[in-house]
Amino acid sequence: MANIILIGAQWGDEGKGKIIDVLTAKADIIVRSQGGNNAGHTVVHRGVKYILHLIPSGIPRRGKICVIGNGVVIDPVSLVAEIAGLRKLGISIAKNLLISDCAHLVLPYHRLLDEQRELREGRARIGTTKRGIGPAYGDKAARTGLRMSDLMQPSVFSKKLQDKLLENNRILQALGAKPISFREVNESYLAAGEQLRPFVRNTVVYLHRALERGKEILFEGAQGTFLDIDHGTYPYVTSSNTTAGGACTGTGVPPHRMDRVVGVMKAYTTRVGEGPLPTEDRQLAETFHKRGREFGATTGRKRRCGWFDAVATRYATMINGIDELAITNLDGLDAVDPIRVCIAYRLNGKRLGVPPSDATQLANCEPVYEEVRGWNKSTHSARKFSQLPPAAKEYVKYISKLTGAKLSMISVGPTRGETIIL
Ligand code: GDP
Ligand code: IMO
Ligand code: MG
Repeated sequence: MANIILIGAQWGDEGKGKIIDVLTAKADIIVRSQGGNNAGHTVVHRGVKYILHLIPSGIPRRGKICVIGNGVVIDPVSLVAEIAGLRKLGISIAKNLLISDCAHLVLPYHRLLDEQRELREGRARIGTTKRGIGPAYGDKAARTGLRMSDLMQPSVFSKKLQDKLLENNRILQALGAKPISFREVNESYLAAGEQLRPFVRNTVVYLHRALERGKEILFEGAQGTFLDIDHGTYPYVTSSNTTAGGACTGTGVPPHRMDRVVGVMKAYTTRVGEGPLPTEDRQLAETFHKRGREFGATTGRKRRCGWFDAVATRYATMINGIDELAITNLDGLDAVDPIRVCIAYRLNGKRLGVPPSDATQLANCEPVYEEVRGWNKSTHSARKFSQLPPAAKEYVKYISKLTGAKLSMISVGPTRGETIIL
């Protein structure tokens, strides 16, 4: 293999977990570099469904090292629960997990502030996962955050927590929310800290030493390109850099050590939460929901659905430098005919090949569609490209060409085996 950055090329939930699971076979180390437990990455193997939130999706495979990098924001109590949940499913977690001492903590006031902001903003809601992600990254940028290294020093943590609660309880009360008890948070966080202590270290040094020994690293992106704080549909975004560059800043591995960027995209488009989605189609959403598809892995919310948007994915190729594409959920279109593909936008009479930066303008864009024929046949059992129905072959070739990167994988089902590698 090589050192690979894997990112979502759309609005999240592209099937990154599934593709990471496939690629992990050839990697030594799998590292998360941004986001927090707003992520929900699904791996299905031997009838077991694993939903990973903070722990990299390489964890179900034995002998692989999983690293939570410095750019991730960690809710320690929820991480302890995630570890316990995985152990219940028979996964051993010991020397295979490392957590950066520089990763920032998500605290209960972050979650409450996240909730309050969503309530107060009324109709301008972002539709966050309410995991406290925005406020936690806000504290990080404001240089007032607490980090894993603080949690590893109980007296330092308690002192900083006391100061932070003084400030945040005032804000919460002014917003009409209940203040937070120092004692409860201090106890639960310190207890979680003790559980996590064996895993915490300087992961930057670990990763560099591993690279010196020729180990191969898979960088697991969370969320997707259009949820990026800089390049996404601001303000309807998450609070981290979900694009390829985030893999460097979020792990301390420099750009010249990266070999390839793999972009994961669905054969259509989905989004959870608010914000523009130019190709949204309620009828298509209904079709998917009726078939039990497209419910959020973290919040269970119905995902919004739409046609494949090549304007968006072409832009994603540019920002991330996508070398290879993994197209997932091709089987989702098995019974859809005809299939629409968005090849351009129209805004105020002008044809656009690039998404406008402004979310309101993007919301006003009308997709220009090309219609292609469906294949009306199951693709689930295809394991080779040649086994796909002709119209399905045409479709994946067409959307890859529009996106501008080489097609390297096609996924036709949630499990490891349901994959065509080109
Ligand atoms: P992630 O956040 O990008 O890892 O994606 P999620 O796990 O949130 O959502 C993707 C969903 O699609 C999960 O339920 C996966 O099990 C499922 N999935 C991934 N690839 C395929 C596929 O090719 N076909 C089908 N039917 N399901 C898939
Ligand atoms: P994975 O890694 C899809 C969305 C939320 C909301 C916006 C901001 O599973 O692809 P946040 O809680 O981050 O402040 O919410 O971002 N969002 C995701 N949508 N997949 C995700 O992660 C997401 N993580 C956040 O729905 O619109
Ligand atoms: Mg997800």
